[in-house]
This record gives sequence, C-alpha cells and structure tokens, in this order.
Amino acid sequence: MDIENKLKGRDFISIHDFSEAEVAYILAVGLQLKQERKKGIAHPLLAGKTLGMIFQKSSTRTRVAFEVGMYQLGGHALFLSPRDIQIGRGETIKDTSQVLSRMVDGIMIRTFDHEEVMGMACWSSVPVINGLTDLLHPTQVIGDMMTILEHKGRLRGLKLAFIGDGNNVANSLLFGGAKVGMDVTIACPAGFEPDQEILKLARQDAAETGASLKVVESPWEAVNGADVIYTDVWASMGQEQEAEEKERKFAEYQVNKSLLSKAASDAVVLHCLPAKRGKEITDEVMDGPQSVVFDEAENRLHAHKAIMALVM
Ligand code: CP
Ligand code: NVA
Repeated sequence: MDIENKLKGRDFISIHDFSEAEVAYILAVGLQLKQERKKGIAHPLLAGKTLGMIFQKSSTRTRVAFEVGMYQLGGHALFLSPRDIQIGRGETIKDTSQVLSRMVDGIMIRTFDHEEVMGMACWSSVPVINGLTDLLHPTQVIGDMMTILEHKGRLRGLKLAFIGDGNNVANSLLFGGAKVGMDVTIACPAGFEPDQEILKLARQDAAETGASLKVVESPWEAVNGADVIYTDVWASMGQEQEAEEKERKFAEYQVNKSLLSKAASDAVVLHCLPAKRGKEITDEVMDGPQSVVFDEAENRLHAHKAIMALVM
C-alpha cells in the first residue's frame, strides 16, 4: 500500500504513531503545499469536507492555521468553544465524538488531559487530530521540522537543544527528533523532565534512526554546539497559578545572547509561541538574526494543511 493510502483515515495524535517514511512524507507535502500556495496554485483537496475544532484552551496559531488551512483546501472549519457546545455542560467526550462523527469529516481537539483525545479517537469514526494536550503537541513539531528543513536543508544528524519545561512541546520534539534522526537534548530543572514513558518510546524509535536523546540539567551543556535552540513558556496553559514559582525555578533557563553564543555560529532559534518576552527568551534573541520563530509560526498553516489533506 502506498503512503497516501496508509495515511488516509488515520488519527493524528502523536508523531510516534507514524513511521519514519510517513513523517518524511508529511513534511514533504507540507513544504510542497507551501511552495505551491506562494505560486498561486490552489489545492481544493478537501472540497465539501468539514473539520470540527474543539478548543478547551486558548489558541492563536493552531486555530487560525486549521481554519485558514481548511478554507484553502476548499473545505470548512467549525470553531467549537466549550462555552457554547454541550461538553461545557457535561456532555461526555464519548457522546460528543459519536455525534460529531455523524456530521463532520475530521475532528481537531485541544484539551488538557491527553486521555480525552484518546477517548475522542476511540469513539470517532472520522480522523481525530491532536491540537495540543498537556502531554503532546504533535502538529507543532511537524511545523517545527519543516522550518528546520527550510533553514538547514536536513534534519538527520542535527543537534537540537530544548531549554525549558519538559512537557508537551518537549515530549513531541523527542518523538519528532527520534523519528527523523535528529539529536534532541532537553535541558530542564530537576522535577520538570519529559515524561519517562515518552522518553522510553522515543528511545526505541531513536535506536532505528541513530538519533541521540538526552535530558540534562544544564542549559549550557545542552546548547554547546547545537544547530537548533528551542524554548517554550515556563508556565503552560493551565499552570497560571504556578507562574511565579516557575519563574524562580527556570531563571537560569533563559535563551539570551550569552547562552546562544555557545551554540553553533549558524544556529537557528525556535519558539512554539506565544512567548513571554524577557522571561524564557529575550527580545534581542527573538527579534535577532538567528530567530526563525515567525517562519515557524507560518509553517503551522502549511503543516496542518498537509496533515488534514493526508488523513481526512
Ligand atoms: N504554538 C501554538 O500552538 O500556538 P497557539 O496556542 O496560539 O495555538
Ligand atoms: N507548553 C505550552 C505550549 C503552547 C503552544 C502550553 O502548553 O501552554
């Protein structure tokens, strides 16, 4: 069976669920859709199809990328806020999933508990796309890897240093790096390491591709000679109460000019955004010549189009 047939109808919940060849294909389709869009070539690949989008957390990039992406593919996206749909009043994920499946062609969900996405996928008869959970952020990392490919021409053998909290974005970077043969070092304070089960599964994938995956405490050790520096907010959505305490614990984990100077001289800087400027990243770095954060944000659009066009 060719790759396109194998991808059709699949859920997109974790990069770990896809083979190395499938991940490479998604990245290639994303880059192709981007180039052709810039040339004015339209791709009505999802004409007449509808994506239901459930957001239990805020979003700028993910929402706009899915909504605009669906429009550009000739389909339609529905924004479903928990304030408006019955989930907010206690209707179960199981029932919501079965109802939506009868009407839409794909479901995107951003939520807290990863199990809710798994539950949605379990009961849905249409593909479910993970738009971020507390555990993973896979669509982000597809866009990130497209960005690195554009700027570095390859992924295999590159060294990526993630500086910050080892949660959803870091976990997905481990899965992404492991699949494509890119070394990933996570630098985080003790107690904020990536999920151990994810690390174990990612290491199994890494054994196939030769990627090295490390977790260290020192940001200096992680950035030493790195080709890609990546950071994320210290307090994720849902952790607002912990923001002050995390600012103290993560004070040494700021991506600033001094830390960046230890990376490769042509290193690029990524941030999934939104950023807390002056906290995890300085203005100087975010607006500086090595920053590719807005290319990265744009690539969410093209990445999401590739994911939707392939699975829906
Ligand atoms: N990076 C990201 O997912 O951004 P949003 O929260 O704005 O969607
Ligand atoms: N770790 C962040 C990522 C935002 C895109 C959060 O969960 O809020």
